[in-house]
Parts: sequence; C-alpha cells; structure tokens
Amino acid sequence: MAEASRRFAAAGVEEPRRDARLLVCRLLGGGPELLLGHPDRVLDATEAARIETAVVRRAAREPVSRILGQREFWSLSFTLNSETLDPRPDSETLVEAVLAALADRKAPLRLLDLGSGSGCLLLALLSELPQASGVGIDISAAALLIAEENARQLNLQDRAVFRERSWDGGLVGDDGFWDVIVSNPPYIATAEIAGLAPEVAGYDPPAALDGGPDGLAAYRRLIPAAAAVLAPEGLVALEIGHGQAEAVEGLLKAAGLLPQRRAADLSGNERCLLAAKSLPEARIGPDFAAKESRG
Ligand SMILES: C[S@@+](CC[C@H](N)C(=O)[O-])C[C@H]1O[C@@H](n2cnc3c(N)ncnc32)[C@H](O)[C@@H]1O
Repeated sequence: MAEASRRFAAAGVEEPRRDARLLVCRLLGGGPELLLGHPDRVLDATEAARIETAVVRRAAREPVSRILGQREFWSLSFTLNSETLDPRPDSETLVEAVLAALADRKAPLRLLDLGSGSGCLLLALLSELPQASGVGIDISAAALLIAEENARQLNLQDRAVFRERSWDGGLVGDDGFWDVIVSNPPYIATAEIAGLAPEVAGYDPPAALDGGPDGLAAYRRLIPAAAAVLAPEGLVALEIGHGQAEAVEGLLKAAGLLPQRRAADLSGNERCLLAAKSLPEARIGPDFAAKESRG
C-alpha cells in the first residue's frame, strides 16, 4: 500500500494515501479498514496483478470510482461506465432542494430527468418518493444501459424508464406533462475543459461536460423544452456551474418560468436553481413558501 501511495503522490494524485487504501482494500474484497488488522497480509499472484493494474490506472489519473466501476451517491451504489458522468457529491444539492420543495412526498408525482447519465438524480429521488415514477432521457445509449442496470440494482425498475432522446428537438410528445423536471446538463465552457483536473478532463465523457463556448448552450435548448412540458404547478430544478445563476435565471424567465430559489452546495457555491411555471402562490405544495423563507 505504501508503494501505491508513493506512486500516486508522484503522479500528482490529491489524496494518495486515501486512494491507495481504498483501492487495495476494495480490490481485496473489503472495506477501507480491511488491512488495519492485517497490515502484513501477503498477496497471492492474482491479487497482486489485480492491484498492480489498478495502481497503474490510478497513477494515470483515472478516478478510483471508474477503476472500481462504482460510485456512492445519496448513499446508494451506482454502477458507472465510460459513457456516464461520475456522479458528484455536489449534485446531491439538487436532490435535497427538490425534496425540500415538495409538500407531499407520498404523492404520485411524475418526474423527468434531462440528461440522466447513470440515472443518479432520478433514482435518488425515486428512492425517497415511494409513489412517484419517472423517465430519464439521454443521448448516450451506453449511459442509458447503465441507468437501467442501476434502476434494477436499486429495485426501482418498475418506476423508472430510460429513453434515448435529445432535448434539442423539444420534449412535447405523448408523455404528457411533468410535475418535477430535473437536469444536470453539461455546463463547462468548451475552452475550460482541457484545464480541468485530469480525472475529469480525461475520463468524464465530453458530452457530459461540454456546455459550448460560454457553458450555457444546453440550458438555452433544454429550458424552453422543459417549460413546454412542465405541469401547471410543476417544479424545475437545474444544477448550475460557478457564476451561472443569473444567466440561467434569465433563460428561465425568458421561457416563462419563475425562478424560486438558489440552493448552495456544501462549499457554499450556488449549485442548483429551482423554478416554477405558475404564480408563486400556486407552487407544487402549500409549504413550499414556508420552507423557502426558512432558507
Ligand atoms: C453532466 S451529465 C449528468 C449526468 C447525471 N444526470 C448526473 O448528474 O450525474 C449530462 C448528461 O447529459 C447528456 N446529454 C448531453 N446532451 C444531451 C442532449 N442534447 N439531450 C439529452 N441528453 C444530453 C450527456 O450524455 C450526459 O449524460
């Protein structure tokens, strides 16, 4: 483990000891504490080869979650592949904000997730909303397969459907109107992608990151599309990048939506915007305003 940690540090990995412990313990089939009681455990040839392959990958700055093929999000385990964004803890802000805005978590709500990736947003919400059902759309067929697999693993397959579709052509169709529309779209300005950490720039799929020249291209397309299929008292929740709140709220207003609240992540950055279609007093639940005023 010390050798792995040394190689990670030399490669510029931010937390080399933590990642070495996590990888070695998980590849040996245990939790991060596995080696605490057996620091001198001798590896057999198969274990040593498996760990060496993983160490080479992490030293090339591949994230631990991609090497293990799993990421925890909202305390649920999600399988990943090369076509899914690695779900970020900051995106839990959106899940929290939506749940806080709902008056009745037992209502039979209809949820739509635009750009569902691994399915983490839709499935996390469905795990908290026992009568809700939802559709996730994405342009990546490979990501949709993983989202379906995640729905099965979480036993949510009866309430979650994933479809290959783009928001570019609009979303009006035979699916009707949606009570809650969520999206974490690509929002990094194209020119900034190369300067991101190698774990992001080299391993997250470009379609999940690239928000065009100013980072706002996806919002320009998906916000009007979402507004057209939002139920009269529905709620839209969008993840946003650093400094994008005002511009995205402008796009929401231009599409006839009313920005309601900005929610910050654990670092204090504005990470999520909530908007409604109808007048503020006709929000999705009677206690929305009370919760909002409590911050
Ligand atoms: C930032 S990722 C978010 C994935 C997941 N929702 C999450 O939070 O981890 C954005 C997703 O939008 C998808 N996407 C990009 N352009 C799209 C489009 N025009 N229509 C539908 N999905 C799109 C990408 O394939 C990617 O899965």
